[in-house]
Amino acid sequence: MVELTWVSLGAAALVSLIAYVLWKQTYWRRRGVVQTQPRFLIGDMWEAMWKKSAGQVLEAICKKYEKEPFVGAYKVLTPVLVVKDPEIIAEVLVKNFTSFGNNEVTFSAKDDGVFSENPFGADIERWKELRTKMMQSFTTARIRTVFEDFLTSSRCLADFVAAAGPDATLDGTLLCKRFTAHASARVLFGIESHSLEAGSEPGAFYDSGNRVFNGGWLQSLRFFAFFFFPPLLRIIGSELVVSDTVDFFRKLIQDSVEYRQKEGLARDDFVQHAAKVLIVDGKVDKVALKKLTHQAINSFIETFETSALTLASALLLLATHPEEQERVRAELREHLQPGQPLDYETVNTLPFLDQVFKETMRLFPPADTIRRRCTRAARLESASGRSVLVEPGTPVYVPVEAVHHDPALYSHPVEFWPDHFSPEEVAGRPKATYLGFGDGPRQCPGSRFASVKVKTALATLVQRFEMVPAERQVLPLRRDPTTVMINYQGGNWLKFRPVS
Ligand code: HEM
Repeated sequence: MVELTWVSLGAAALVSLIAYVLWKQTYWRRRGVVQTQPRFLIGDMWEAMWKKSAGQVLEAICKKYEKEPFVGAYKVLTPVLVVKDPEIIAEVLVKNFTSFGNNEVTFSAKDDGVFSENPFGADIERWKELRTKMMQSFTTARIRTVFEDFLTSSRCLADFVAAAGPDATLDGTLLCKRFTAHASARVLFGIESHSLEAGSEPGAFYDSGNRVFNGGWLQSLRFFAFFFFPPLLRIIGSELVVSDTVDFFRKLIQDSVEYRQKEGLARDDFVQHAAKVLIVDGKVDKVALKKLTHQAINSFIETFETSALTLASALLLLATHPEEQERVRAELREHLQPGQPLDYETVNTLPFLDQVFKETMRLFPPADTIRRRCTRAARLESASGRSVLVEPGTPVYVPVEAVHHDPALYSHPVEFWPDHFSPEEVAGRPKATYLGFGDGPRQCPGSRFASVKVKTALATLVQRFEMVPAERQVLPLRRDPTTVMINYQGGNWLKFRPVS
């Protein structure tokens, strides 16, 4: 009798659970929105844990429901709206900032001291303050100044490549991260790092930057949990930046400020800014040091990973498309006399170099998904008249990869075809269809900074070397779905032959 009661209770609990899950996973259908067929309990995004990148999962959804301007999907049991129609994307990213101004995940200081100091992780109130401060560092005058650092680092990169010799097979991703570690150490801290010294290890700047997004399975799991299943963080911990990195930057700031003060040195960079607030009454202010450390890590991360990966992708794409590579070289020859050094104006005005840069980020966008969270109910309506009421709290995903690979928008959707960005092609496309740097008020504030840096390095290498894929390069190029950031299956392997 007792056993029968337990069995009945168990069966009732199971039936209730099933009913609850089915009810949750029909949220969109109950609202008349076309929805996916989510896996029971785990939803649609589970494959993003190991099998596919989040961008690929969303791209598959968009392909399956090709005709739909938006599709309802599920992150475990949470309903998520995937928006694909350019009008609606523009509404979410650009026009209706009151409803969609927040990113999906915001970080409190308790979650992660570092990311809570970044506009990316801040909720809308704190975002305004952080963003305004940040934009002061990206004036044209400042970018012109740091161009000289980019150029020096690019030359060091080319010398490093030359020292390896024409038969050497180089890891393109590592090479580009050595470059951005070198450039960031110069730009932010005025330090000449050893990351591009022939025969040397990549060094502490590289290690500290690289560990943030490539710190092993536990860290990948934390990133996954932040975006897809936050309760897991209570078990595995939520600090995304490891303590070694924090210690490295804390010591770096304190030592640099003290050294400059002792030597009476001045330079317009992060250390100069730190010097103004770090020492109070002759002593190091601990609270200021902590804040500065977090800011320094953010600045370093922002200038290290995505630019390196974009440059690495561009090198690999040019190596595998010799005609396009030759077009970049010919454009450089046309604009610069033999021996004439690269300058800021030229880097910014070469149209084909710019097309290559944009096409690289179209084909392999470093940020494959933009995630917002609705904060005020809003009705989204497509040009075809389909509409959906988005409730507060609902995550809204912009599937960057799906938009960039849409044959209705790009004539050679999965090929490297820089002419996608010729003036005529651009004029023929609706707005909000190129999202390499996002769009609207939250658009990447470092876009010009990154673009000048990547193009300077790219132009320097193309001037001096012919890039070819090494024998071990796996072709055709496919994204490695198991890493948080963009990498290629089998890696990125290049050879550099001097051009006369
Ligand atoms: C090729 C390199 C880069 C790529 C592909 C990239 C891409 C992006 C994308 C897609 C976003 C999201 C935009 C949105 O939500 O609409 C973003 C945001 C952001 N990026 Fe970049 N970025 C790059 C380099 C940089 C650099 C160099 C910096 C700083 C120096 C930077 C700082 C930021 C910050 C702070 C945000 C958050 C902005 C906000 O929420 O207001 N990024 N970036």
